[in-house]
Amino acid sequence: MGMTDGWRLEPGGQIRGTLTLPGDKSISHRALLIAALAEGSSRLDGVLDSEDCRATARALAQLGAEIRETSPGNWLVEGRGLDGLQAPGAPLDLGNSGTAMRLLCGLLAARPFPTTLTGDASLSQRPMERVASPLREMGARIKTDSGRPPIRIDGGPLQGIAYDEPIASAQVKSALLLAGLQARGRTCLTEAVPSRDHTERMLPLFGADCEVDGARICIEGGQALHGADVTVPRDLSAAAFFIVGTLIAPDSELKLPSVGVNPRRDGVLQVLRQMGAGVDIDAVDPVGREPVADITVRSSALTGTDIGPDLIANAIDEFPVLCIAAACARGTTTLAGVGELRIKESDRVAAMAEGLSTLGVPVEVGDDSVRITGRPMGGGTIRSHRDHRIAMAFAVAALAASEPIVVEGVRWVATSFPGFSGLARQAGMRLHDA
Ligand code: S3P
Repeated sequence: MGMTDGWRLEPGGQIRGTLTLPGDKSISHRALLIAALAEGSSRLDGVLDSEDCRATARALAQLGAEIRETSPGNWLVEGRGLDGLQAPGAPLDLGNSGTAMRLLCGLLAARPFPTTLTGDASLSQRPMERVASPLREMGARIKTDSGRPPIRIDGGPLQGIAYDEPIASAQVKSALLLAGLQARGRTCLTEAVPSRDHTERMLPLFGADCEVDGARICIEGGQALHGADVTVPRDLSAAAFFIVGTLIAPDSELKLPSVGVNPRRDGVLQVLRQMGAGVDIDAVDPVGREPVADITVRSSALTGTDIGPDLIANAIDEFPVLCIAAACARGTTTLAGVGELRIKESDRVAAMAEGLSTLGVPVEVGDDSVRITGRPMGGGTIRSHRDHRIAMAFAVAALAASEPIVVEGVRWVATSFPGFSGLARQAGMRLHDA
C-alpha cells in the first residue's frame, strides 16, 4: 500500500491522449483459479496486478499450485489437476476480495480437506450464505459466522443439483460451476438476471464443457481441465472512470485501446449513450472468447435518464461513476435495482449519497432506487468508506467541480487499480497525493 492515504484534486482539467488500461479483474481471478485446477502448464497474459488478484494467487499457492509471475502481467501456472491441491497450513486470507472468497468456496467445497477463509474488515461484513447455502444443497459442509466470514469448509464429495438463483450474482454462479465440475452428476443453475459470463466462456478453453441455454447453465461433473494459454482483456470497469471523466471535462478526447466489452458487462456504455455520450466502440478481434473493442470518448453534454434493474445488473461496478455522470447531467437520473450495491466493498448507495451531498448535489435515496438531479458541483472532503471505486469516482468528479476535492482513504484503490493515480495524471487530471 502507498505512503499517503489521500488525494487532493484541483478542479477542472482536460483529458487527452491514449491510455493503456490494466487487465480485467474478474477475468484475471478466473484465469488464475481455473489454471490452478488444470493439469499441465498455463500461460496467462495481461493479468491484473492488484491486491485482490494477488490474494487469489497467494491462496492458490497455499493450496499447493505452482504459480509465478514471469514478467509484469505474465503468469505461469503449473497445475497438477484438482487432486493435486493440498490442505493449506493456515487460513486463506482473501483481503478485500469478495470474488476470491466466493469462487474459492465453490472450488474448495469438494476438496477432501478442511480450509478456513478469512478477509479484511470490509470482506468480513459481506454476505456469504448466498454461496454457502446452495453448496450445502450439493452436500458441502460449510460454516459461516452468522452468514459472514470467516468461512470454515470441510471439503468432501458433492452431488450435482438444479438450482434457481434468487439473486443476480456471477460470483455465486461461478462458485457453483466450480463445485459442479467436481460433483457427481450434473449441476444446472438458472439465473434470475443474466450476470457476467466470464467463467462459462473460460472453462471450455481449458477443456470443460459448459452448456448455456438462455438463463440456464449446466456443467457435467468429473471433467478434467487441461492447461491453456489465456490473454486477459483490459478492464472496462477501470475504463469507466476515464470514460466519465472525459465526458464531463471540457474539450477532451481519450482513446482506450483493447478494452473488454462483454455484453454482460457493458451496461455502463449503454447508459452513457442513453445520456447522450459521444462514445465510439470499434470492435477488434476477440481475445479468447471475450469480445474486445477500441473505445474513443469525447466531452459531451449529458442528459438525465432512467436506468432499470436489468441495465444496472450489467453496470453493477460502474454505479459510483455513473452517479458522477448523473450529477453532471441536465435533469434527473433514476437508477433502480440498487439493493446489491449496499453490500459491495461499502454501502455504495450511502457512500455516493454522502459524497455527492458534500459537493452540493442532493441524492434522493429510495427503497431500491436513487434519484440524482444534475447541479454544478462544488468541492469538499470525501470519505472513500474504504472502497476503491468510491475513491476513484470522486477523483473523476473534480474534472467538473468548481473547488478542490480531497479524497480520504485512497489506499483501497490498490485492490483493483494500483496504477490509477499515475494514469489519471497522464490523462490530464490534477491529482496530487495529500
Ligand atoms: C464479480 C461479480 C460481481 C461484481 C464484482 C466482480 C465477479 O459481484 O460486483 O466486482 O468477478 O464475478 P456479484 O457476482 O456478487 O454481483
